[in-house]
Amino acid sequence: MKSNKESTFTLSAPNHVGMIMDGNRRWARKRLLPRAAGHRAGAKNVVPIVGCAFDCGVKIVTLYVFSTENAGRSEDEVTALIDLIRDQAKPMADKLIEIGARVSYAGDRSYFPQDVRDIMDEVERRNTNPDAPLVNMAMNYSGRSEIVRACALAAQSGNVTQESIERNLYTAGLPDPDMIIRTGGEKRLSNFLLYQAAYSELFFTDTLWPDFNTAELKSMFEEYSHRTRRIGR
Ligand code: IPE
Ligand code: IPE
Ligand code: MG
Repeated sequence: MKSNKESTFTLSAPNHVGMIMDGNRRWARKRLLPRAAGHRAGAKNVVPIVGCAFDCGVKIVTLYVFSTENAGRSEDEVTALIDLIRDQAKPMADKLIEIGARVSYAGDRSYFPQDVRDIMDEVERRNTNPDAPLVNMAMNYSGRSEIVRACALAAQSGNVTQESIERNLYTAGLPDPDMIIRTGGEKRLSNFLLYQAAYSELFFTDTLWPDFNTAELKSMFEEYSHRTRRIGR
């Protein structure tokens, strides 16, 4: 049975949570491991954290997996990251589907090699239940590029309004994130969900992403449930 404390935040759990999963390389450096080991450890933490968020009542999790700017890292690191995405995308989606979720991808996927894009398309085709909780993975994602693209598409339709721009964002049809969590100590958005984060509650922790755990996540949900969201009113 759930404790009173747990049910308090379950009642007012955020609907949509964005997660900036930062700190993988520092986690590896602390252990004298190669960067790729940090990224692997980070990938391993995704299913437990997302699973906990869903158990707490969250319906949508948008994960910042790879930013457009990350493509400017060293060739070795970018190759390691793309290899990891290639290796992990399907098994991770399998595990998420097993816990009842569906998976989608946000961002400019034309950057990725065809075989990686094929995996993304295949995973998205498995989304048969529109009511299942959603894991939305931001891959080669840039908030600014997303806004420019959405404005251009809206202009093409001859109708530039907030609604027409929102219809052309990668998050079209999804509610804005209620809460954005950033691990790894930095206090910035780094081009994540710039348009959508207008009224998101921001949470920062020094914990490096591979060390971020369900206890800390739940304590953030607890704090979220006590925040007053005025949305300008
Ligand atoms: C986040 O960890 C993962 C990606 C950006 C792909 P980093 O790789 O940024 O690790 P730190 O922040 O340098 O420790
Ligand atoms: C943000 O982290 C991107 C992801 C977590 C995927 P970065 O490490 O790229 O951000 P900066 O460079 O510290 O702003
Ligand atoms: Mg970082």
